[in-house]
Amino acid sequence: MFHSLPANKPDGILAVMQMFREDTRSDKVDLGVGVYRDDAGRTPVMRAVKAAEARLVAEQDTKGYVALTGDAAYNQAMAELILGGTVPADRIAASAATGGTGAVRMAMELIRIANPQAQIWISTPTWPNHTVLAAAAGLPANAYRYYDSINGVLDRQGMLDDLAQAKPGDVVLLHGCCHNPTGADPREQDWAEIAALIEARGLIPFVDIAYQGFGDGLDADAAGLRHLAARLPRVIIAASAAKNFGLYRERAGICLVTCPEEERAPVTDTLATINRSTVSFPPDHGARVVRTILTDPALRLDWQEELESMRLRVQGLRHALAEALRAETGSDRFGFLATQRGMFSVLDVSDDKVTTLREKAGVYIVPGGRMNMAGLTRESVPAVAAALARVLAE
Ligand code: LMR
Repeated sequence: MFHSLPANKPDGILAVMQMFREDTRSDKVDLGVGVYRDDAGRTPVMRAVKAAEARLVAEQDTKGYVALTGDAAYNQAMAELILGGTVPADRIAASAATGGTGAVRMAMELIRIANPQAQIWISTPTWPNHTVLAAAAGLPANAYRYYDSINGVLDRQGMLDDLAQAKPGDVVLLHGCCHNPTGADPREQDWAEIAALIEARGLIPFVDIAYQGFGDGLDADAAGLRHLAARLPRVIIAASAAKNFGLYRERAGICLVTCPEEERAPVTDTLATINRSTVSFPPDHGARVVRTILTDPALRLDWQEELESMRLRVQGLRHALAEALRAETGSDRFGFLATQRGMFSVLDVSDDKVTTLREKAGVYIVPGGRMNMAGLTRESVPAVAAALARVLAE
């Protein structure tokens, strides 16, 4: 039965993660998978998460099922965190999801059920799993230009020109902030133009926001998404609590849909049905931790402060690496590292050089050139800069 199973294409990010684990060198540096690390190279459990978990252990008196769309209080707290009150509650359909990935998949299933003719437009480049998820959900995908690699910024004109080809009803997948992998985000004016094009062509925006709080701050990072939600009748949102709450393995995500009031019940019902046919009830532990933090003023404040220090740490590392590369190369060609946002930036390197960096210098970046700035430490920056300068010059 299983002998004819097709070979699966390995995921580049997860392959790097595995190779790093198997490397026995003590000076290896992991700039691969998108997880936050502190100065000691650890991915810490956040203080507020520890406190919320302790509270749950002491006070939670049942592990009975939640609703098919998850815990309503979690959904409400996340909607408030993400949308910031831009859309009234009676226009928001919500379901907890199995992580941000589960939320993206759920949203794609919803799109296919709602409009079997819809195609999804995905940025080039993007998080590689976006295209895998679209294929798995049976959504035909198109690519739109996104990144101006010469200047390290959004290719605004390329993006708008490509999206002008989309048909009414097509879906545009956008990264809410901290674009993965480029770190280049639309500015306020760009969001307004994107919204205008979506509106004029009758497209549906679908925003994947997995790094809220890592760019310019919690509210600033959601500003583009909120602009869309305030202006357009419908926005589909997939969000993750993996990164900003450090809850990677707990799989806490959410799918939100802002829509006309009369569509809220059918959308919610469809999200519940998608859950029933895949996971039944979404996982609740991570969601319950998030809800506990967001609804307790003291825990929420502590969480925001710790998240802010994580954001500033990553930004400091961006500046340190850009500076070290300026000193190493005598040029400003890596200046974009300091101005981009979030964990990721992309280097213009061949996959051969990615291999050389790994094998010769123990520096792990993802094929395609993506590097996770949060994997750097103040101590590793000089060696990483020297290795990058050496390998890129070869
Ligand atoms: C990443 O982009 O590295 C993370 O989102 C982890 C993943 O699942 O790929």
